[in-house]
Amino acid sequence: MEQGILTNVMQSDRARAVVRSVAPSASDLIRMDHTKVIAAFHRYRIDTPAAQKQALANTICLLLEIHATLEEEIFYPAMREIDPEFIDVSLPEHEQIHRLISDLRAGVAGSAEFDETLMTLMRTVIHHAADEETVLLPRAERLLGQRMNALGARMTTRKIQLGLPRVPEFTVNAARAAPASRMFMGAAAIAACAFILTRAFRR
Ligand SMILES: [Fe+2]
Ligand SMILES: [Fe+2]
Repeated sequence: MEQGILTNVMQSDRARAVVRSVAPSASDLIRMDHTKVIAAFHRYRIDTPAAQKQALANTICLLLEIHATLEEEIFYPAMREIDPEFIDVSLPEHEQIHRLISDLRAGVAGSAEFDETLMTLMRTVIHHAADEETVLLPRAERLLGQRMNALGARMTTRKIQLGLPRVPEFTVNAARAAPASRMFMGAAAIAACAFILTRAFRR
């Protein structure tokens, strides 16, 4: 779907009402994003084949780029209004994360430098996410209260706008990052379901 059409759809009253009713609060959304990217980091091992390392790194970069945009465009400005000092600490860490993402995107999976950059990114992200979850978010929940729900809805809308055009990238990298055994089990599960459904409809 064209970005302009998507933006119009997402800005309609109906779409806004649907997002408001299902969206997590800003802090739940941020915590869920952190969990997802840290899980992707945990799948990266030194002995993982280079093609899988590349796919995992691509997924990690995509997740982080979207997450950082949501925080920089929506959450941090809301927080800055009430507590500017906290955000002044967070932004330099985001700059470091963006630099590491650029290095990773320019690197060659399978090289020692690539592994090193990914591990540095992992360390930086885990440290940054821990600070946000243990200091920034509890403070935001206390100071912003119910506004966290409205912020969560805005962040969810923006996440859909940013994420939909990148679905092909996500899908390709998710398939390439999956170990062959998992792909085989997935295919076997689909075949088993198809077999059971066929038998059921024959009766
Ligand atoms: Fe952040
Ligand atoms: Fe974050």
